[in-house]
Amino acid sequence: MQRSDKRIAITGGSGRVGTALRNALSDKVASIKIVDIVEPGELGPRETWDRVNIADGNELTRSLVGVDAVVHLAGYPNERSIEDILSVNVLGTHNVLEAARQNGIERVVFGSSNHAVGFYPRQTRISDTDPMRPDSLYGLSKCWGELEAGLYFDKFGIRTLNIRIGNAGDRPSDARALNMWVSARDLAQLVLIGLEHPDITCTTVFGVSRVPSSWWNNDTATSLGYAPTDTAEAAAGPETQRERPSPLPQIAEFFQGGRFCVIDHDGKIRQRLP
Ligand SMILES: NC(=O)c1ccc[n+]([C@@H]2O[C@H](COP(=O)([O-])OP(=O)(O)OC[C@H]3O[C@@H](n4cnc5c(N)ncnc54)[C@H](O)[C@@H]3O)[C@@H](O)[C@H]2O)c1
Repeated sequence: MQRSDKRIAITGGSGRVGTALRNALSDKVASIKIVDIVEPGELGPRETWDRVNIADGNELTRSLVGVDAVVHLAGYPNERSIEDILSVNVLGTHNVLEAARQNGIERVVFGSSNHAVGFYPRQTRISDTDPMRPDSLYGLSKCWGELEAGLYFDKFGIRTLNIRIGNAGDRPSDARALNMWVSARDLAQLVLIGLEHPDITCTTVFGVSRVPSSWWNNDTATSLGYAPTDTAEAAAGPETQRERPSPLPQIAEFFQGGRFCVIDHDGKIRQRLP
């Protein structure tokens, strides 16, 4: 796996994905500043922690002084009220990009989500160039982040790799996750591509390991040198074989976004014109 000499900040570095990523990146970057409202576990030798709320732009801008690149993971990782989504996921992502601009930081890696495209049927194989199709307000906040990253590239030249993370955990959490699981090691490989690859502009890839039947064409990631080493099948446990129970299984099991599609859904499957 490649390395980077960059001093990086990881917003949300105390969370599940952030902690796993820190372990996978510990000897591959110059230093890691954890930017999070929650105290992380034990710090590594080249790690520091700054208690910062990403909703506070001034605080965040101060915290990112002296950083070369930002990996942005902080926020709500699931469906919430519109107020929560706007104040943390949307405004927080804006604050990250704005803090990058003010501090002359040229690289951002954005922890986007499969839920930006969760309303595609599972039968449809999509690529990063297909239109966004969010399955929730949460997914919509990831669309915002990807789009704003594009604005900040076009206006200011800040380069962002949007990683639409599938299911990041020690093992695929359920049957749906078998199609989109990503190991920390493979996610770290994508982050390093985001930190270093010269061809990144505002570029979107899927954060997925080697899975038997992916719903996603990840050719863009492949063209950037991504070669996942882990397989969902090898990591699977007993819980992986089951779809999680849902009040509307006909919806949850039809669309890629699974249970996120079910929230407030009226139960009728609608097809869009291509
Ligand atoms: N876990 C997955 O499988 C998965 C899948 C797709 C996308 N993602 C994305 O990856 C990121 C991390 O997800 P996770 O599963 O580790 O979630 P998590 O909840 O474990 O971690 C999120 C972290 O963000 C921090 N945070 C929340 N609000 C904050 C604020 N206002 N200011 C500063 N820090 C704040 C939390 O304290 C936490 O440490 C999220 O952006 C999520 O949308 C995760």
